[in-house]
Amino acid sequence: MPHIVVSDFDRFDTPAKKGDFKFLWFASEKGGGETIVGCEYREKGFVISIKKREGEYIVKSDKITRLSPVSAMQKALKSFCDLASCRVTRSNIGSIKEHHLEKSDSFLKDIDFFANSFPIDKEIWIEIGFGSGRHLLHQAKNNKDIRFIGVEIHRPSIDQLLKQIEINRLENLFVVDYDARLFMEMVPSNLAGKIFVHFPVPWDKKPHRRVISDRFVKESLRALKPGGVLEVRTDSENYFRYTFETFLKLDSARIEIGKNIEPEISSKYEDRWRRLDKNIYDLRLVNETVSDPIDLEFDFDFSEGVDKKRIFEIFDTSPMKFEDFFIHFEKLYEIDQKRAVMKLSFGAFDRPEHKYIVILPNKCEYFPKKPILSKANVSAHKKIEEILYGQ
Ligand SMILES: C[S@@+](CC[C@H](N)C(=O)[O-])C[C@H]1O[C@@H](n2cnc3c(N)ncnc32)[C@H](O)[C@@H]1O
Repeated sequence: MPHIVVSDFDRFDTPAKKGDFKFLWFASEKGGGETIVGCEYREKGFVISIKKREGEYIVKSDKITRLSPVSAMQKALKSFCDLASCRVTRSNIGSIKEHHLEKSDSFLKDIDFFANSFPIDKEIWIEIGFGSGRHLLHQAKNNKDIRFIGVEIHRPSIDQLLKQIEINRLENLFVVDYDARLFMEMVPSNLAGKIFVHFPVPWDKKPHRRVISDRFVKESLRALKPGGVLEVRTDSENYFRYTFETFLKLDSARIEIGKNIEPEISSKYEDRWRRLDKNIYDLRLVNETVSDPIDLEFDFDFSEGVDKKRIFEIFDTSPMKFEDFFIHFEKLYEIDQKRAVMKLSFGAFDRPEHKYIVILPNKCEYFPKKPILSKANVSAHKKIEEILYGQ
């Protein structure tokens, strides 16, 4: 993660602009803990975090909103440091490759691209957790009429695949840096021909983090066209059994299983396990039904603003659990006399949203963008409004 360590910096007047970057506000925790800076790059919001440690300040992107590709984030930190006359002690940012910054992100799609208008002109095949991207590239090269979507949360893997897309001049492959479990809720019904989940992290000790779950399977079946396949491949017998049991919970299902089947193309993980003579398990769940379209509509606007003083009075960091969702107010920052920023997580237990809410006397709004449209997020938003307005 790019960061710059500084012995000191100067707050500058906001809003301020440097190149493509806008710096909207500074907000500080009471008692002087962390300071955050609301920023914008080509209409995408993100936050820079400044934390004091042993007499120095670490300036870096926050984990929730970090920009992509990494080179854009590096450039943002450098621009911030120029404006804030940072006295830089050390940094892990070398020279920034402009070429990479400008070109590769045309295939890297923001989640809003899919949330606002999911492209439906072609059949899609989705690979979840593509890692080195070897399987996804092979499929995209050999199936030019299909639109591929690679979903991954590991930034170096994403950057590596973006380079390969450019080198191979592929036009039919989009990449999205997002949690696959949330992404699946946005895929229109009956559009996907295949969903690949190859060598998912087994998470034996934290099963709630697994990609495969009842909900994921339900969303996958909805997204798959009739005859479409959810393909899970794993070297973990435990994960294989868990996935099989998850499939068996369905009222009706066509399930195919295999052991040590030679694949069309093996992934990096697969090669490693084969060299160790490990067993590889395949599970294929074939969708046989036509699903209803997604019909959820909600705008996530707040109906009014909130007095900043009130927020500081009622702010409570104890997590709140409800039947299908939770809300956790994590941190509160002050911008000035009238404005504040709240950091919070909420939504489904296994797929939380992490957001900021900017609180003004006449309006409140999510930063950097509204939550994803899911049932749990809608319920959480309604409850957040009740809490903010004291209803
Ligand atoms: C063990 S690797 C397998 C990579 C690749 N499929 C292969 O076979 O070589 C699992 C990958 O899934 C990604 N991943 C884990 N959880 C994810 C999630 N919730 N959404 C998207 N990707 C995820 C990880 O970042 C990692 O790259």
